[in-house]
Amino acid sequence: LDKKVEMTNSETGNYINYKKMSENLKVVRDRLQHPLTYSEKVIYSHLDDPHNQDIERGVSYLKLRPDRVACQDATAQMAILQFMSAGMPSVQTPTTVHCDHLIEAQVGGEKDLARANDINKEVYDFLSSSTAKYNIGFWKPGSGIIHQIVLENYAFPGGLMIGTDSHTPNAGGLGMAAIGVGGADAVDVMAGLPWELKAPKVIGVRLTGKMSGWTTPKDIILKVAGLLTVKGGTGAIIEYHGPGVDSLSCTGMGTICNMGAEIGATTSIFPFNDRMYDYLKATKRQHIGDFSREYAKDLREDDGARYDQIIEIDLNTLEPYINGPFTPDLATPLSKFKEAVKENKWPEELKVGLIGSCTNSSYEDMSHAASIARDALDHGLKSKSIFTITPGSEQIRATIARDGQLQTMEEYGGVILANACGPCIGQWDRKDIKKGEANSIISSYNRNFTGRNDANPATHAFVASPDIVVAMTVAGTLNFNPMTDKLKDKDGNEFMLKEPTGEGLPSRGYDPGMDTYQAPPANRESINVAVSPNSDRLQILAGFPAWDKKDAENIPILIKCQGKTTTDHISMAGPWLKYRGHLDNISNNMLIGAINEENGEANKVKNAFTGAYDAVPATARDYKARGVKWVVIGDWNYGEGSSREHAALEPRHLGGLAIITRSFARIHETNLKKQGMLPLTFSDPADYDKIKPEDKVDLLCTQLEVGKPMTLRVHPAAGGAAFDVSLSHTFNEPQIEWFVDGSALNTMARKSAN
Ligand code: F3S
Repeated sequence: LDKKVEMTNSETGNYINYKKMSENLKVVRDRLQHPLTYSEKVIYSHLDDPHNQDIERGVSYLKLRPDRVACQDATAQMAILQFMSAGMPSVQTPTTVHCDHLIEAQVGGEKDLARANDINKEVYDFLSSSTAKYNIGFWKPGSGIIHQIVLENYAFPGGLMIGTDSHTPNAGGLGMAAIGVGGADAVDVMAGLPWELKAPKVIGVRLTGKMSGWTTPKDIILKVAGLLTVKGGTGAIIEYHGPGVDSLSCTGMGTICNMGAEIGATTSIFPFNDRMYDYLKATKRQHIGDFSREYAKDLREDDGARYDQIIEIDLNTLEPYINGPFTPDLATPLSKFKEAVKENKWPEELKVGLIGSCTNSSYEDMSHAASIARDALDHGLKSKSIFTITPGSEQIRATIARDGQLQTMEEYGGVILANACGPCIGQWDRKDIKKGEANSIISSYNRNFTGRNDANPATHAFVASPDIVVAMTVAGTLNFNPMTDKLKDKDGNEFMLKEPTGEGLPSRGYDPGMDTYQAPPANRESINVAVSPNSDRLQILAGFPAWDKKDAENIPILIKCQGKTTTDHISMAGPWLKYRGHLDNISNNMLIGAINEENGEANKVKNAFTGAYDAVPATARDYKARGVKWVVIGDWNYGEGSSREHAALEPRHLGGLAIITRSFARIHETNLKKQGMLPLTFSDPADYDKIKPEDKVDLLCTQLEVGKPMTLRVHPAAGGAAFDVSLSHTFNEPQIEWFVDGSALNTMARKSAN
């Protein structure tokens, strides 16, 4: 293990440290004296202080040293702006930035990319110059989607990575613990500080048997999502194991890990196996595979490893699933889907089928999809629905262009979009229906919250494997089961689609396509990072003020949110993405998607001072101008969805003090703490119902102490005596400093100045 093996072919001098990892693990093993899961091995081998760190799953806060950081372009802007404000010459941990989120799908790959280069020039120039300046690898627009590029170039078994995107866990397909974080966490690690994570619980998914026919790896996670629901993975790593694992392709394992984000899991991971070795070899990293084989005993679970929960899935009997609409955990097996469509009156006609994205754009996925398209073409049929393909990377696009799958899908009627997120993140100029019109679409993506793809709340978005998506586009209706139903060919003769086939890895190797990577130059001092003061897209960050050391008295509730409040509701994507680097401008989307309990409407709240109804951001700005702090009341799993730190920066910027909920999604809770806000939960969740949107509250902030509850005094608007509600929190000592100083960055600046 003493060998020097580079972590990636695209950098020099950053080595895989199996030796150190194995030493750390020995220290931890001697202390814990019990068999370990693979997740624990990866996490504990990256402890900053393995000798003294408290280690209790679900309880201790671990201080960790990740191997890498990856940022997508939307989140990178704010992360780099924050990193700049800490005043360091270069990143202390290997970091890459990937341009994938800002490319809108309109007509097709090349034109859309050219237009994006034009529209986003200011941002791309900022990212290109700032990454060069601070020694960060830069993947230009057109290179592909972050998680696909990470899998192709940076992921390695046993590694620990953080990424400023919620689908970072995709790298679990290569045995890496890859965790989605907010930009503020990325800034810490870029600055060389240890990164803190509550020791995750470990949910084991034991796979037995072997898949066949129409069932794909995607169906495993669709089923798991149905079993665990969007909350079920919270605070846990989902660790796959068992004899069924070896039959899955590495990219298929990536798909499963990717979509683990939909059940709130910290991350998902597979043990190192021969399929990963094959993929490393195919992506010109056989030397890494060989090195991993030397360390193999620590790249899987120990015999007798203890899981907090076990789920068993028999792949022999697993059938394809279709999840949705509106939530990824509504899982319906294909055999029951037609009935469900009828019962729920989901629109039957399939308007659009979309494949690709970071979740499902492997060579295997594309080959399967093309095989179904070819089958349809052979019967004289083309896609009945609009059909789009977003290749996950330039390498995938170039390879399927060389090998013919791309042409087959085009012939079938498919539109090849840019190698980017596109419709998955609402970057979709959809023209075929009007806003508000009920309709159905189905994608091989991961996330299907209301309005995510096309900003139309009436769009019923379903999620399935690429195989099922393409099959459905042949029929043009949701009332089609390719396993049992016949279609009519061009002459009216009945036929059934053949089971999809296709290679997992390209037998001729991958074609890298265009060179889209910019390595940081050797001489970086002379590089200027310019941000125009007139820019409406980028704004140099001013620090937040420190806490005034007082309890807050008689402050208003800006909004009491009803039901689901995802990060999409708190800081909407789509057209707002372009203001990600400009905090004041993007704050105009704060909570505009959340439903006000008082009137059941979005973005319409009553101003506590004027009594007038106005938009949520405008009302917050009014309170801020009056020097009045405010709170938000939220329901279960508040802030689920993406790692979007703007969802925390915006309320802080507009003068919020606390977000009080029944429970939080992990990343959002941490993000709020980093920005100097108070994420608090009702000690008794039933207290949520006792508070009315027009009530005023006192928040006794001076009570903030590790492990102690805080008091919220409620002054009912309807009259009657004030009453107290107990609030819980998860702050530890260092995090309390963030609140006191005004933000984690303020604490960092204060400490480095001392
Ligand atoms: Fe992009 Fe959608 Fe993945 S936004 S990173 S393709 S989840």
